[in-house]
Amino acid sequence: MNTGSESVTVVGAGYVGIVTAVGLAEAGHRVRLIETADDRLAALEAGEVPFFEAGLQEGFARAVAAGRLAIERSIEPHAPVVMICVGTPIGDDGRSDLSQLRSALEALEPLVGPETIVVLRSTLPVGATRKAAGWTSVPTSRLFTNPEFLRQGTALADFRHPSRLIIGCFEDADEAALSRVRSLVGVDGVDTLVVDVTASELIKNGANAFLALKLSFANELAGLSEEMGTDIGDVLTGISADPRIGSSYLKPSFGFGGSCLPKELSTLAVAGRSVGLPMHVTAAASQANAAQQMRFADRLAVLVGGLQSRTIGMLGLAFKAGTDDVRGSPAIRLAESLIASGAVVRAFDPAAMANAKRALPELHTVPRAPDVFDGAHALVIATDWPEFATLPFDELGARMAERLIVDGRRLLNAPTLRGLGFRVSTVGTGSST
Ligand code: UDX
Repeated sequence: MNTGSESVTVVGAGYVGIVTAVGLAEAGHRVRLIETADDRLAALEAGEVPFFEAGLQEGFARAVAAGRLAIERSIEPHAPVVMICVGTPIGDDGRSDLSQLRSALEALEPLVGPETIVVLRSTLPVGATRKAAGWTSVPTSRLFTNPEFLRQGTALADFRHPSRLIIGCFEDADEAALSRVRSLVGVDGVDTLVVDVTASELIKNGANAFLALKLSFANELAGLSEEMGTDIGDVLTGISADPRIGSSYLKPSFGFGGSCLPKELSTLAVAGRSVGLPMHVTAAASQANAAQQMRFADRLAVLVGGLQSRTIGMLGLAFKAGTDDVRGSPAIRLAESLIASGAVVRAFDPAAMANAKRALPELHTVPRAPDVFDGAHALVIATDWPEFATLPFDELGARMAERLIVDGRRLLNAPTLRGLGFRVSTVGTGSST
């Protein structure tokens, strides 16, 4: 990691902003983290990271205690480097909302100095940087992008050990400014790719859409394996043995979620439509993800003999293990559809219950994992938290109305559970005895 001595202003204390601020402070830079939302600002000033992310609370406290990270409400005049990490959420029309980006640039405007460098680190739809250039007096020669590839649950590790670094610049990039950005975000031993800003946007969008495509393909093959009475685990072992395919990021589930992958598919589809390209593969990945989730809900309904007045125990609400985030979570969508079909859903998640209740107020949550078994006609594994795999199923099965387990994450050992008298249905496995 380059040891730094740059003074950096990070705008936006969301997932990306706080991880970036802590990571840069750890690298030795002096960081000011700007947040304008009162509640989030108050939490940070009280020393609290307002979401669950392994190691981030400790890293944040260390950086503040070391005097390398300060929380501010506004950008300082003539800030040398301003890194914008605000959210670009997807609207109902599938387009990215750039209003937070525009507001950040407008807030910066009266404070721009003759040397100020701006780095856009927010997730940007293709074309956004060229549009943003019109919202600031900072010349394009000092306007850069630096897309991040952080995964929630391992964000700090991903910041410290990126697989690659991307810097997007305009044709008239100032060499001295570019080298300051390179030394700021650079990591020893990791290649930094400098490309035009549009390429940097498509790299981010395209990388995430490709990951989503891999998952939708694996999930579709899992459905076919179920219907054909075989096991996707064996199928993918054989397929991924080809080094051109590989085995990473191919774990089937009843659907993928998060604030990123689904969004990137939508962003690319919108970009394609804007230039008359239908983006068939991207659209198919989205459709397959939706279909996989509906298929799982239908299968559960059949297995319990109809959902009306049934009690369903759900383990997991977050969109993946290691986070409290429920944005785009298949678990939340499943709970919502079960409740709409007249089932009683009783759910537990180690980190995401508060966020889940905000997203789905009618959801009933229980304080401990074993409580979801009480009176349940089926138990659903909806998020792959490792601790769910080590529960005392034999003892807990006695608390269920029916010993049925439906594993949406291929987390559990079905043969062992069948030996304990459970009926087990696993995504991607043909038998549902
Ligand atoms: C993703 C990208 O990985 C990251 O590079 C980008 O910067 C942000 O979006 P994230 O959404 O945080 O990161 O988590 P990720 O681990 O990619 O999982 C996304 C979804 O895919 C989750 O619902 C997860 O459960 C699911 N998933 C992931 C699978 O179902 N199977 C897998 O093999 C991997």
